[in-house]
Amino acid sequence: MIRKDAKFPGVFWVQMGRKRRNLATKNLVPGFKSYDEWIIRVKGEEYRIWSPERSKPAAAILKGLKDFPIRPGSKILYLGIASGTTASHFSDIIGREGLIFGVEVSERVMRDLINVSAARKNIVPILVSARSPDSYTNVVSAVDVVYADVAQPDQVDILIKNCNIYLKKGGYAMIAVKASSIDVTKPPREVYRIAEAQIRDAGYKIIQTVDLSPFDRKHAVILARRS
Ligand SMILES: C[S@@+](CC[C@H](N)C(=O)[O-])C[C@H]1O[C@@H](n2cnc3c(N)ncnc32)[C@H](O)[C@@H]1O
Repeated sequence: MIRKDAKFPGVFWVQMGRKRRNLATKNLVPGFKSYDEWIIRVKGEEYRIWSPERSKPAAAILKGLKDFPIRPGSKILYLGIASGTTASHFSDIIGREGLIFGVEVSERVMRDLINVSAARKNIVPILVSARSPDSYTNVVSAVDVVYADVAQPDQVDILIKNCNIYLKKGGYAMIAVKASSIDVTKPPREVYRIAEAQIRDAGYKIIQTVDLSPFDRKHAVILARRS
């Protein structure tokens, strides 16, 4: 059994057995696996199970994210794209009309990302530090969404610096905040409040903060909007 999510285009629900419901995206490149994800085939279409344990935006949707800014045709600047696990699901959702600029600082994970981007064609891998957004103005254009998942102490600062340059007016900033990377001594909730205040002070409107536990006890996703 497969059905479309009522609110978020490109996001699907797969009923497996009586109780288990999984998120999924429709494979943009049927026959190609982007990592070791589960694939299911229904009526000639291929769907990829989108696990909340492997991908923070999937956990955020399952935890009640009200607005999901990744849509068919979206242009995304992805900071900390790694080998493309989450980005491959974004790539399914945005389709051929959308584009992901994927910034990653590690050469090792970039090698895996290049295989994924070669097959998908809507991901542009950029080997550079997201701390220097001025250095990729010749590659990246204005985007609808900036998504940050760099797990660094200055992760909120990195998000804001990139949004100030690349995010369109009315566009969305989304960050997977890793509390322990910012301050191990504070309770995660306090770290999330401080991150929210920093984003708000930079002129962005906080839409929602979603704590990802039990899928991921160290992270929250904060969604904000540029006015
Ligand atoms: C938690 S992993 C990202 C996982 C990925 N977002 C996913 O869900 O598939 C964090 C990534 O950020 C990268 N990273 C850390 N600092 C960075 C920086 N300054 N610029 C770009 N990438 C960075 C790391 O190399 C790592 O691959």
